[in-house]
Amino acid sequence: VTDPGRVVANPLEELTLDQLRMRTSIKWTNYPPDVLPLWVAELDVRLAPPIAEALRATIECGDTGYPSGDGYAEAVRDFAAARWAWQVAPERSMVVPDVMSGIAAVLRLVTAPRDGVVLCSPVYPSFFRAVTDAGRRVVEAPLDAAGRLDLAAVATAMEVAAKTSERPALLLCSPQNPTGAVHTGAELAEIAGLARRHGVRVVVDEIHAPLVLPGAEFVPYLSVPGTDDAVAFYSASKSWNLAGIKAALLVAGPEAAELLDRLPEVVLHGASHLGVIAHVAAFRHGQPWLDALLAGLDRNRTLVADLLAEHLPRVSMARPEATYFGWLDCRGLGLGVDPAELFLERGRVALSGGPPFGSGGAGFARLNCATSAANLREAVRRIAVAVS
Ligand SMILES: Cc1ncc(COP(=O)(O)O)c(C=O)c1O
Repeated sequence: VTDPGRVVANPLEELTLDQLRMRTSIKWTNYPPDVLPLWVAELDVRLAPPIAEALRATIECGDTGYPSGDGYAEAVRDFAAARWAWQVAPERSMVVPDVMSGIAAVLRLVTAPRDGVVLCSPVYPSFFRAVTDAGRRVVEAPLDAAGRLDLAAVATAMEVAAKTSERPALLLCSPQNPTGAVHTGAELAEIAGLARRHGVRVVVDEIHAPLVLPGAEFVPYLSVPGTDDAVAFYSASKSWNLAGIKAALLVAGPEAAELLDRLPEVVLHGASHLGVIAHVAAFRHGQPWLDALLAGLDRNRTLVADLLAEHLPRVSMARPEATYFGWLDCRGLGLGVDPAELFLERGRVALSGGPPFGSGGAGFARLNCATSAANLREAVRRIAVAVS
């Protein structure tokens, strides 16, 4: 693991199921051992060699104090320049403990109590709690039938939020978890225009941005004209499996820079030095590994589509453009709002049920495809047995 130069052909094929079952993280301990767990957003990979080496060196020299400096922002800046031809401004960036604590803090700053926050659902379930825990209201703008942004629904939701709020906001997931939609530059420009028109502050979670698959092009929201008052979040956590070694980066548009000084102390000083080191190593040195991962995920999305067509023709999946999720439309099976319950009970395979993702989630289940081809084959076989 600690050879930083080790070349990894396909990170998704390095570990056996027995090795994975030795893990103590939530993915592998939440269900009994006869369940194949393909739910929460963890990847079934070994740590990318440069990250493992950076952590090993840190521990060896006992460099485990508080984080310092602009290393994270500079690493994201260089990564964004290389992959998206766009520059993050380190002077308008701040390291935060993780994406969700950063989002929670920013929502409290940019909106007032009981204000409306627009969510384009189905979307990452924690978004709902981030809004309601802050004492704000969710205003849903459901995605269209293809799992893409419905700009008319966003316009309506923004109008409703604006009418009933002092300082409304939109919390956007870009790319979209769970549908894997990559929002286009034109869609984002339209969102920016609507936000300006309705006085809605946009907060964008771009945690899945490094996971854009061949054929789609990621556009950073802050690179779109008219987004100067927006705030975006980046992290290596989803792409390099660093949820256990957290750190994230908040990047403010020029008109949002004043927010940085107003973040709560616990958020400003909550990031872990080890986390920052791991994330910097990922963004700086983890691109070859990421490219190998993306090639594996590209193959997996085709594999899952083929497996569904062969064994579960009544389940459909829009081809994800990003992320490692398959958002399975199981409504044709007639299993009610949460098909994942039956898959678990009868098939002993754990997917994420659709309902917590909000409107549009009923009848769907999310399959985490960041695993080996053998595990995906077994998962589809188990689902097919469960519904047969
Ligand atoms: C869209 C999105 N945002 C945030 C997170 C969590 O990020 P963090 O652990 O940095 O809070 C996830 C995890 O799955 C996610 O999918």
